[in-house]
Amino acid sequence: MIYITAALILTLSVLVYAIRTRYKSGLSRIPGPFIASISNLWKISAVYHGEIHTQQVKVHEKYGPVVRIGPNDVSFASASAAKQIYRSRPVFAKASPKCGSDFYKAVSPLHNGKRLFNVFSTQDDAYHAKLKRKIGTLYTKAAALEMEPLLDSTIKVFLDKMHQLTASGPHNVDLSLWLHLYAFDSLGDISSSRRFGFLENGKDVGGMIERVDKIYHMTGLLGQASWLQTIQLHVKDYMSRRNPNPLLSYCTDQVTARLEKPTANLDLLDGTLNILRRNPTELSVDEVVSSMYINLIAGQHVLAITLRALVYYLAKYPSCLQKLRAEFAEVDAKYALPSMIPYAELSKLPYLEATIYESLRVHANTGLMLERVVPAEGATIDGYFVPGGTVVGVNAWVLHRDEEVFGKDVDSFRPERWMEPSQEKVNEMKGTMFSFGDGSRRCIGQNIAMVQMTKLLVEFLRRYDISLKDPTKEWHVHGSWVARQSEMDIVVTGLRP
Ligand code: HEM
Repeated sequence: MIYITAALILTLSVLVYAIRTRYKSGLSRIPGPFIASISNLWKISAVYHGEIHTQQVKVHEKYGPVVRIGPNDVSFASASAAKQIYRSRPVFAKASPKCGSDFYKAVSPLHNGKRLFNVFSTQDDAYHAKLKRKIGTLYTKAAALEMEPLLDSTIKVFLDKMHQLTASGPHNVDLSLWLHLYAFDSLGDISSSRRFGFLENGKDVGGMIERVDKIYHMTGLLGQASWLQTIQLHVKDYMSRRNPNPLLSYCTDQVTARLEKPTANLDLLDGTLNILRRNPTELSVDEVVSSMYINLIAGQHVLAITLRALVYYLAKYPSCLQKLRAEFAEVDAKYALPSMIPYAELSKLPYLEATIYESLRVHANTGLMLERVVPAEGATIDGYFVPGGTVVGVNAWVLHRDEEVFGKDVDSFRPERWMEPSQEKVNEMKGTMFSFGDGSRRCIGQNIAMVQMTKLLVEFLRRYDISLKDPTKEWHVHGSWVARQSEMDIVVTGLRP
């Protein structure tokens, strides 16, 4: 009898909890999977299976442009919603502990016992604006071009490695790995004029890649429910006390070494230290460490993902590769090998630009929607009133498949779509792109990333031909915080001795 009573009480409690969760938040009119309205299980399951990027597209196809994907989470599909969510003033804040989210704390490591917030993770908008004003000049287009020699040096190491691998003929290369090694080493060079040695060794060194991967994996998965985030945060803090984060220790060591022995390098570290040297009240040493740390964490996966997409789609569609080669033939002839083509020349090539836009569109880097919190007074977005405290956002995979903006064939890789329509339409397409985010929290590293990607791609294709090892086999994509590809076997063939 006691068991039956306990079971009844339990069932009743679950029912009351489910009904309250579904109806109390003021989101019950918003369509979506039933399970998502009463628990975070829909999100957790989609991230666990590495399918959040495709599942979110599917729920929008099924339920329309506004979908409830969690008890307190609403996903939007339109460019107008994206503008309202990411560009409004006062801003829709990054998820805050007030709405039960520790997501950004989880990407702010402990440093000397204190949480080290950075330009990406801070939830304080005034502090963000102040910090960005100080360091923003280091990331402009002109600043990125000044760093070109640093970028060239990592590209050269990558090309040398490809040369070794293909010395005895065409070679099957897992470029998903090599492009990640390149991305991380290239960021090492622009951060502190030092590669990590990943390319030279052909693998992770000092467990840094493994540690960053764990951070991405756990934050993506456990970020889907506030109670999981809290557990993650405590476990992470406990682990970092026992086993310090090697990437953070690396950044601290680099900053300490530069303070002891100043240099005049072109890299971001000297750039940030110069701000501090000019006026020590402008930046703290901790802020220099946190800037270096977040660049390395934020840039490497997304850079590698875009490069993989570029190489994969060009190998898959040889006609696009042919057009691209034809376009850069003239500038190729002008800069005899082994010299590299300056970015200023490459940025003038329209088909190359279209190919990069198309890769970023078809394979967006982030797998999750970029979460923001509705201000206390609530907001009406795409016709729905959403109460204050609701987590809202747009997923790039969804937005980049808007047929009204990009055309009916949104799933196809077709760089020509960026060259055929009127300038007005192209501007609309460019304005809808969400790969680098939007508004005040838009990617600060975009200009640097464009140089890193464009130059590597062209220098690689000048020297090597690429084809899929097995054209019938798709690569594997795991969609979580980022949409990461693997199993990308490409046959690389040297074109010149
Ligand atoms: C293809 C390459 C890249 C892509 C697609 C990309 C994408 C993004 C996105 C979507 C955001 C916004 C995140 C949000 O709203 O929560 C972001 C922010 C950021 N990215 Fe990138 N990123 C790339 C490369 C880089 C590089 C190379 C760096 C460093 C040199 C970098 C540094 C940052 C930083 C520091 C932020 C935070 C900016 C802020 O909140 O003010 N990214 N990135």
